[in-house]
Amino acid sequence: MSEETLSTLLKEERKFLPRKEVIERATVKDWEKVIKEAAENPLKFWEEAAREMEWFQKWEKVLDDSNKPFFRWFVGGKCNITVNAVDRHLKTRANKVAILFEGEPGDVRKITYAELHKEVCKFANALKNLGVKKGDRVTTYLPNIPEQAITMLACARIGAIHSVVYAGFSKEALRDRIVDAEAKVVVTADGTFRRGKTILLKPTVDEAVAACPSVEKVVVVKRANADVKMQPGKDFWYHELVAKESGECKAEVMEATDPLFILYTSGTTGKPKGVVHVHGGYMVGVHRTMKWIFDIKEEDIYWCTADAGWITGHSYIVYGPLMVGTTTIMSEAVPDYPQPDRWWSMVEKHKVTVFYTAPTAIRAMMKNGEEWPNKHDLSTLRLLGSVGEPINPEAWHWYYRVIGKEKCPIMDTWWQTETGMILITPLPVSPLKPGSATKPFPGIIADIVDGSGKSLPANQGGFLVIKSPWPAMMATIYKDPDRYVQTYWKKLPGDFYVAGDVARRDEDGYFWVQGRADDVLKISGHRIGTMEVESAFVSHPAVAEAAVVGVPDEVKGEVIKAYVILKAGQKSSPDLAEDIKKHVRKELGPVAVIKDIEFRDKLPKTRSGKIMRRVLKAEATGKPIGDITTLED
Ligand code: PRX
Repeated sequence: MSEETLSTLLKEERKFLPRKEVIERATVKDWEKVIKEAAENPLKFWEEAAREMEWFQKWEKVLDDSNKPFFRWFVGGKCNITVNAVDRHLKTRANKVAILFEGEPGDVRKITYAELHKEVCKFANALKNLGVKKGDRVTTYLPNIPEQAITMLACARIGAIHSVVYAGFSKEALRDRIVDAEAKVVVTADGTFRRGKTILLKPTVDEAVAACPSVEKVVVVKRANADVKMQPGKDFWYHELVAKESGECKAEVMEATDPLFILYTSGTTGKPKGVVHVHGGYMVGVHRTMKWIFDIKEEDIYWCTADAGWITGHSYIVYGPLMVGTTTIMSEAVPDYPQPDRWWSMVEKHKVTVFYTAPTAIRAMMKNGEEWPNKHDLSTLRLLGSVGEPINPEAWHWYYRVIGKEKCPIMDTWWQTETGMILITPLPVSPLKPGSATKPFPGIIADIVDGSGKSLPANQGGFLVIKSPWPAMMATIYKDPDRYVQTYWKKLPGDFYVAGDVARRDEDGYFWVQGRADDVLKISGHRIGTMEVESAFVSHPAVAEAAVVGVPDEVKGEVIKAYVILKAGQKSSPDLAEDIKKHVRKELGPVAVIKDIEFRDKLPKTRSGKIMRRVLKAEATGKPIGDITTLED
């Protein structure tokens, strides 16, 4: 064992206690007490959280669990999340900046709450005029620009359901998601900027939409001043549409249980799952976690570096920050362009106080060296956050020391697209252990169980499960309720939600999440389904069959190693491997990072013909294989 690993392991035993200043400003001062009280009566806890929101009509029942696992929160309540994210601030902070945008070229735009209200209403009216009605689906394929947030809010305003697709995905991925959602309208941009280059988005949308009969209209935001083809009667410029509209649009009165959005996420098998979230419960859960974990106060400037195309962006760039009335930063900028200090220059320039990012970004910046952050005044920072994958203690310590100057607590937040809100996390006053997301948020009951569903004692690895329903939980999988039940509630015997992660709980009740229990890949914190990647391989004309596994990567967490069987008559060569790599990247978009391709004559399979990726993974990573009694050959 190297000196460094050893010292990190020793340090891992250290607890980091909150400083006096942190405790003084904290909304919640006694973490353990709040957890205990909430555990005694979780429904009372969440009902109190719901009272902090504005409702058109109060709920009749906090939780309806008569049709498990289709839990329904705040039944009878009527609300609209945009009232809480926008309208309620008009009285007290109309001229406060709601969205602070910095584009990759360095252009800055500041949108106040009053302006945001007007913009959301205008685009909501425009959508109505395009024929979008309550319950209709609108897909977006947009860069991380304010119009992304405005479109989401405009949909919510009129009761339409948004389905945001990350603009790094390929046309095939976009097409599949539009088809599944049967979207009526797609909102995109002409292009975006990445590493000094213009990346066109509209042509990708054109190709995808050509195979989507449900799409009637396409709205295009002018972002890159690019020369794109517009089809009269079908394609509309965003700025031309909103110019004609009024800045007032009444929020549609929604049932608390009405769908707010669909967000697609990958699993091991089958097509991506359309995770459905609803207005009422989502609003309550995201608001409470945002307020307590990031401890937001009036003077904060909050920056979550995710893209709004992922759940982190939905909950903690758009809805959460706006509901608590803070200034939320949106940016196209990557951490290292034009130089490795881009993000730190933004922290300095915009006086960011709360910074929330992913371990992969931290590791990439560690590699570039601390001279880059050290060029900048980061003294405004008071709180740091991490999300998307386990943070390794080395990265935690670097983040704590170099970015937080040993004064900012790190909120290591565990959650999922499906959970909608953060479920396991410290609060600012919690004693921290590097690498642990600490304990379940108040009102959440988590456990570690074995394959038979039995609770495990401290320090035994097992499956992470959630034993109490929570307000922002997914409602179902779009058009596939049975898959919802099977995937999350039937994998293990017992009455609980199975998260799909392996973890352990230590003697202090701290949770240590180790990673996925299934074959889902985690590349740069993004969830990529093996099935989607494998089908991209197989769509190459030379490939007969493919199996992919994730192998550890120092910066990205995981990258793809592929095992490929060629079609008869094809000959393996480095050129062919290169060509297949290129093909897959084109099919899947830049999220798919392939480390290497190995040609094989055979793949390990079960007797029923399922590829045993576990065997390949063991081979690729040098780890033990485990039980192979089901292996055919
Ligand atoms: O494996 C866990 C990991 O990310 C998965 C959820 O991925 P996704 O739905 O894409 O959402 C990511 C952003 C919320 C989880 O099943 N994960 C997320 N956060 C953490 C984590 N693993 C360890 N520690 C975390 N803080």
